[in-house]
Amino acid sequence: MPFSRRDFVKTSVLGAVAAGVGTPSKGEDAKPNPVPQEHDVQAGSHKRPIIICANNGYAYLEDAYAFLKNGGDTLDAALKVVKGPEDDPNDDTVGLGGIPNEEGVVELDACCMHGPTRRAGSVGGVRNIKNVSLVSKAVMEHTGHVMLVGEGAERFAVAVGFPRENLLTEHSRKIWLLWKEFHSTDDWWGPGLGDPHWQPPEIRDKPQSELWRERIKNLQARAADLGIEPELQLAAVRKVLFPPTGTIHCSALNDKGEISGCTTTSGLAFKLPGRLGDSPIIGAGCYTDQDVGSAGATGSGEENIKVAGAHTIVENMRHGMPPPEAGMEALKRIVRNYNGDMAKLPFLDMTYYILRKDGAYAGVSLWEGYSKGRPHKIAVHDGNLRAEVTVSLLKGYSQEFPRFPDIPEDLKKGSEYLK
Ligand code: GLY
Repeated sequence: MPFSRRDFVKTSVLGAVAAGVGTPSKGEDAKPNPVPQEHDVQAGSHKRPIIICANNGYAYLEDAYAFLKNGGDTLDAALKVVKGPEDDPNDDTVGLGGIPNEEGVVELDACCMHGPTRRAGSVGGVRNIKNVSLVSKAVMEHTGHVMLVGEGAERFAVAVGFPRENLLTEHSRKIWLLWKEFHSTDDWWGPGLGDPHWQPPEIRDKPQSELWRERIKNLQARAADLGIEPELQLAAVRKVLFPPTGTIHCSALNDKGEISGCTTTSGLAFKLPGRLGDSPIIGAGCYTDQDVGSAGATGSGEENIKVAGAHTIVENMRHGMPPPEAGMEALKRIVRNYNGDMAKLPFLDMTYYILRKDGAYAGVSLWEGYSKGRPHKIAVHDGNLRAEVTVSLLKGYSQEFPRFPDIPEDLKKGSEYLK
């Protein structure tokens, strides 16, 4: 392949620096973001009931809030939110239509914790079952276990009444095929020598910018050949170059102070079969303690597992840290795991959703967003439905691996490339 991770790391200019940790970069914005104060990120704080979630749950908050306000259980309210994206074939990060693993098979992960009864359930690497968040609840309610994975989890889901269905939508299949065909010049996927569109491997001594441009144009042409709609072609290219880790977490608190949380995902796009991220890991993707509060995560699963993010945050709150500081401290652990190395940190990202038992909440993230104009957001309903930009530990945007360059304006035209 003409671009390797090493090539990019060597040539990239980095524009951010870790907050109080690590070596400052040579970048232009060598300023850490200040640690936010509680009031910075809690416009409507301390209200109950309240539900917070990743922004892809926004459309489902109104119904779930009404359910919670009418006395519905906190876990059922949170599950109502995350079921929305699981059922939506157009959300390719969760449930039906999730981007598949490297073999083209959708594998889903989820977990939940019910504060009032102090119980938990989890499933990982589940195929053919759409609502894995509900399956995680079924594990909690109908077994003496906490976690089921793979084929066993699928068979359990069928036994308790979940239907088997094909989770791979045509659109996600085409994105996977695009990834497969263009992923490497060293295998037999993609057009062969006899194909009129065949091109020799790119020449390494071209300037990086020219190679990127060609690469994007070629990918776009392949996307068109595969039948991906013109307005979605660049978005598909972006997913091939930057395998997303989209997920949804939701925490819900009622007026009695009962609290629950859940997280569900299709995981890292094009992952190795069997890979589990943080989402099904109690303590990483989600953690709820009825005495303290609830936290959940979206982002680089491998990094979050290493800091047991959600558990760390709840423990920080138990020891007196307000939600924003509790989240920032967990993010700093991720930074510390890389010794603040700014050549590496832009390749990962993390957002935490934090809800304390008294209704105080925070959304914090490692970086400001994916790119300018695409900030990380948390969705909140406490009687007033809104989306709020998270507070980031580091100034700037994550630069994905492989790096997705600025799209030349002429290639961008008419395409929802950021979708
Ligand atoms: N955070 C989702 C994943 O890494 O699978």
